[in-house]
Amino acid sequence: MERGSTIMARDGATPEDSRRGWSADDIRKLVDVETGTLDPRVYCDESLYQIELEQVFGRSWLFLAHRSQIPKAGDYFTTYMGEDPVIVSRQKDGSVVAFLNQCRHRGMRLARLDHGNTKFFTCSYHGWSYDSSGKLVNVPMEKNGYCSKLVKADWGAVRVPRVEEYKGLIFGCWDAEVPSLDESLGDAKFYMDAMFDRSDAGTEIWGGVHKWVIPCNWKFASEQFCSDMYHAPLSHMSAILAVMPAGVPPEAVQWPTEGLQWRSESAGHGTGFHTADDQGQLLAAIVGPAVAEYLMASRPRVAERLGATRTHAVNGAHMTIFPTCSFLPGINTLRVWHPRGPNEIEVWALAVVDADAPQAVKDQWGQGITRSFSPGGMFEQDDGENWIEVQRVLRGTKSRRQPFNLQMGIGNEQSDARFPGKLSYVFSEAAARGFYTRWARMMAGESHAELAAAHQPEVR
Ligand code: FES
Ligand SMILES: [Fe+2]
Repeated sequence: MERGSTIMARDGATPEDSRRGWSADDIRKLVDVETGTLDPRVYCDESLYQIELEQVFGRSWLFLAHRSQIPKAGDYFTTYMGEDPVIVSRQKDGSVVAFLNQCRHRGMRLARLDHGNTKFFTCSYHGWSYDSSGKLVNVPMEKNGYCSKLVKADWGAVRVPRVEEYKGLIFGCWDAEVPSLDESLGDAKFYMDAMFDRSDAGTEIWGGVHKWVIPCNWKFASEQFCSDMYHAPLSHMSAILAVMPAGVPPEAVQWPTEGLQWRSESAGHGTGFHTADDQGQLLAAIVGPAVAEYLMASRPRVAERLGATRTHAVNGAHMTIFPTCSFLPGINTLRVWHPRGPNEIEVWALAVVDADAPQAVKDQWGQGITRSFSPGGMFEQDDGENWIEVQRVLRGTKSRRQPFNLQMGIGNEQSDARFPGKLSYVFSEAAARGFYTRWARMMAGESHAELAAAHQPEVR
């Protein structure tokens, strides 16, 4: 057997082989940004899901871990890229590698813990042992059982070929040919920095990872964080009224109407935010008064670093880095929507705090995120209920034949000198159209060079 031939055979599948009967044209027709319609089979078709694992999850930058989760040599964190389990591991030289969490002998999961520190990963089935970079270093009975003929160098764990970091966020991609993470994020970095680059110290993760299962397709969650401020004034209003200070009459609570939405030219990322300066009242109610006070007090130094626009305007935001990394700048929940079949996701949610904030602020922030956006979070329930119910409705045969409406804001993009890229009114579905266009183009097997070309421009 040639070195690496197993890997080449598996990765050598052509886009045509993996489309499972769907032609590229049929896939493209599922999303029509001209008329603003979406075929609901994108959420519930098993064969489309299997294509997604290859074409979207096999070729996109996927969030793996925050650097603060693996600060020391030998630290590792186990996660998933699509449905593939991976180990993310800090090396002696400070670099990070990622490899499939699967023993090359008979496929057993190598690391069984969520995280830890180790020099070796020893398979619990027959004992093959790998170093922290995934190299196979020890095989029981090697001399007698394999007559010393086993070429260990051929049987290392399967490496994720590309691992790169942006402002503490470590991403990996199975496709060696993907453009750099920096290039793939593009203008998204401008908006991400409002949460991840508030000081030289950057951010860190508070506490562990909340993990829970929701019976819905991953795109409901990811698209909502990308493009949907529209649901917030209605779906979340009861939770907002519940966290308001005593004495605030319900009629005094009005959702802001000013704001902008941004979408990538072609990468599928999106964010939306209100531009009116609320002086932190809503943040105080959701995550806690000490956090809001800290954020207000830190504005002058953050403004020096990022400029006044991002300091004052990009808060209370939602954002998705295509396909499955989402966060809420200000509130500071960060999550990955791990797909588990067309009808289920595993949500992994982390609390992000400023690394140089006082400990009491970090603690209130982490607790506030847990109270609002976590498996038991007040606001999380509103979102999960919507996604689950839509998915349940799609069990019907008639219900999955009716196109969904994706028309909000069509032809109404605008430019704003304060912000880079393609902008719309905050209540828009422009970023959703960008998200699904990216999805359809990847699903149709477009190359990275083809994908880099801008989508159909939407102009005012
Ligand atoms: S499956 Fe891992 S050593 Fe056999
Ligand atoms: Fe929501």
